[in-house]
Amino acid sequence: MKRALKITLVVIGILFLAVQLIPRDHNESGSAQPNALTKVFPIPASVGAILKKSCYDCHSNSTNYPWYAQIQPFRYMLDGHIKSGKAELNFDEFGSYTARKQRSKLRAIGESLDEDSMPLSSYTLIHRNAILSKEDKLTLANWLKVINDRQP
Ligand code: HEC
Repeated sequence: MKRALKITLVVIGILFLAVQLIPRDHNESGSAQPNALTKVFPIPASVGAILKKSCYDCHSNSTNYPWYAQIQPFRYMLDGHIKSGKAELNFDEFGSYTARKQRSKLRAIGESLDEDSMPLSSYTLIHRNAILSKEDKLTLANWLKVINDRQP
């Protein structure tokens, strides 16, 4: 093997080991969530299952960490998504939002369905099962409609 190639491989190896030291967030609240969405609105089991499967990893207080989250820099990227995802919309804090904010977030969910913007494509690259099917979208859209009709 050429010397330059050997050195390059060693440097890459050292860098890989070094980034493993980047601290990790732990979005794993084991406790009950008094402000959870389920406390505010009736959530049919079908809707709850879709949200859990496709959205909760970044929009709740409990991420189901995949195997690759043990490896940096993937954890770092996921932590960033969770942080900004939760800041925008946290299904476990939904009850603490004002009525106005709740309405605006429900509208934003409807828009994300129309625009196919969620879950993030960088996430569905690996989480193929989190991709919303046509039926999933229809189920969520119908549920949003029921809730919006109930509101004054
Ligand atoms: C991999 C993490 C991840 C997953 C999974 C995910 N989101 Fe997001 N979501 C984000 C991030 C990050 C943002 C904020 C930045 C942005 O809009 O790209 C966001 C923003 C949003 C917003 C915008 C909120 C606003 O007020 O504008 C909505 C609505 C949303 N997500 C809904 C969903 C829904 C519904 C699902 C499941 C079908 C989902 N997200 C799955 C990461 C995620």
